[in-house]
Order: sequence, then C-alpha cells, then structure tokens
Amino acid sequence: MLSKTMEQAFNDQVKWELYSSYLYLSMSSYCNELGLAGFANWMRMQAQEELFHAMKIYDYIMERGGRAIMQAIDAPPSEWDGSLDVFQKVYEHEQHVTSLIHDLANLAQDERDHASAIFLQWFISEQVEEEATVSDLVSKLRLINGEGQGLLMLDKELGARVFTPPANA
Ligand code: FEO
Repeated sequence: MLSKTMEQAFNDQVKWELYSSYLYLSMSSYCNELGLAGFANWMRMQAQEELFHAMKIYDYIMERGGRAIMQAIDAPPSEWDGSLDVFQKVYEHEQHVTSLIHDLANLAQDERDHASAIFLQWFISEQVEEEATVSDLVSKLRLINGEGQGLLMLDKELGARVFTPPANA
C-alpha cells in the first residue's frame, strides 16, 4: 500500500501531467493560428501523450491501494512569441517535469518504497527522450531562423506525428 506521503506526491504529479496536456492543447491552438498545421498536430499528439502519463500514474495510485484525488488545474498561457519561442517553452516545461519526476524518485527512495522506485524508472527514461526530442526541434528552429521554406518543411515533418500508447506500458 502507498504511504500517505507517496499518495499525495503521485496525486500532485497527476495534476502536473494533466496541466502539461492542457498546456500543449493551448500551444496547439496557437500553432494553428500561425498557419502551422503540422506544429499544431505535434502539440496535439503531445497533449495526448501527457494524458497517457497522467492516467498511468492515476492507475498506479489505485493499484497500490490509494485514492486518486483530482486537483484544480491552472490555466496555461495562450500567447507566445512565434514558433521558436513556443518550442523553447516546451523545453523549459519538460525540464521542470523532469525535476518533479526526480523529486518523486528521491522520495520513493527515502520512503524505501521499492515498487514506486521501479514504477518511476519508466518516467525517468521517458523524460530523457522528451527533452532530447524537444531540444533537437529547438536547434532546428534556430537554424531555420524564421525562414519560410524551412518552417514549411519542418511543419510537414511534425504533421506526420501520431500517438500510439507504448505496448510495454
Ligand atoms: Fe509527462 Fe512531457 O512529461
């Protein structure tokens, strides 16, 4: 059974994952307004992935005999300063989420909650992947430097993203 401290910490993380989903939906609509349908698609798929993260933790809380308590979710921003800025903010947000996951892993260690420590390994690896993907996109956008043809090529690439829940998760 989860300790009350771990239960609270996992519930806080569910809220953060749902906030992430909300943030990326807001970014998707912003990209759509920029005329970048592929960027909007990428953000929308990212929002689905965050919802999947939230549900994975939600299920885990109950699997360990806890209660998933829904918390208020803050309104995300709705305006950014172009395509590079919006992806820079994604990168900053993912770095923040990484630090939250690491805090959770530290807590699991302090509490000698081995099951939660193993559960969190998946999220630790996931954050490495997310940060690498977004950092790569920020670099590409810096190279493109707002130039139309480059942006349209990247937009096409991002338009191909689909979200499929991982089979081993
Ligand atoms: Fe759920 Fe993007 O981390």
